[in-house]
Amino acid sequence: METLDWKSLPFGYIKTDYNVRCYYRNNQWGEIEISSSEYINLHMAATGLHYGQEAFEGMKAFMGKDGRIRLFRWDENSMRMQKSAEGIMMAKVPDELFHQCIVKAVQMNKRFVPPYGSGASLYIRPLLIGSGAQVGVKAASEYLFLVFITPVGPYFKEGFKPVKMMITRTFDRAAPLGTGHIKVGGNYAASLRALDVAHHKGYASALFLDAREKKFIDEAGPANFFGIKDNTYVTPESNSILPSITNKSLQQIALDVGMKVEIRPVPVEELDTFEEVGACGTAAVITPVESIVDEDTGKIYQISKTGEPGEISRRLYEKLTGIQTGDLPDPYGWIEFVS
Ligand SMILES: Cc1ncc(COP(=O)(O)O)c(C=O)c1O
Repeated sequence: METLDWKSLPFGYIKTDYNVRCYYRNNQWGEIEISSSEYINLHMAATGLHYGQEAFEGMKAFMGKDGRIRLFRWDENSMRMQKSAEGIMMAKVPDELFHQCIVKAVQMNKRFVPPYGSGASLYIRPLLIGSGAQVGVKAASEYLFLVFITPVGPYFKEGFKPVKMMITRTFDRAAPLGTGHIKVGGNYAASLRALDVAHHKGYASALFLDAREKKFIDEAGPANFFGIKDNTYVTPESNSILPSITNKSLQQIALDVGMKVEIRPVPVEELDTFEEVGACGTAAVITPVESIVDEDTGKIYQISKTGEPGEISRRLYEKLTGIQTGDLPDPYGWIEFVS
């Protein structure tokens, strides 16, 4: 095993031994290739560079107490990448190829899988780009699918602690009939300025509102939003948010611990009524939210009165992370072992 300082690992990129690549040419996917280079040789007119034909995924593998490596819901990421490909006219990566490549990437880099109990995990980044040259605005005929992995520390060094967020009214992340529902690079480029402003003002993230009316909550930066009240888990329904696999998993767990789940538009004013609020995603699972300031009016929605995470958020967090690391049983079939 690699002797990294697992406990102080950043949530960032660390060079590993290998990555896995596969090219789509002449209307078909080729053989899987293993590379030890961190660089790709790309045509300067590749559509991925000019027209944003690029999609990615983010998922994690975990080492259990039993020394076995666990992949979490990879099939959901594969399906989502196919939706992304469809959305911006790219060749789809079949489930089987997606699976082979992520498993190979983990197996070839086993020494980088953080040990059980370190708080760190193995981040898996599948990437699909238009690699074919094109000068007119149209889809490429060649694609590169690449998977690299990198060990990551916890997203927030302070641990499971509530953060402050800011509602942004100056920037939209995605248009109502745009690409917000798929995981393409353009959405992230569009969110950078809002996140930068929020960070500069001392907030952990920016809360985006629906672009049409600015009345409803869309997303919490690169994470979904949820609120909890009256034993109900409430999360926005919107065409412009990314369907989060963490959110979907938390909803299932919420139902199974006897809560109700509501997926519906969430008006900004409703923030006043939530007992708990959180952002959810692969990186941090749940980020509890202490307060949210509205950039426009200066109004502060104070969610946590104690500065501590809410009990329900903690419970959902512990259940989900317990399943991921194997500390709790997996009644849903969300885990696949990598040998
Ligand atoms: C915009 C956005 N929303 C939500 C999420 C959370 O999705 P998931 O739980 O599948 O990681 C992510 C991260 O992947 C994201 O980038």
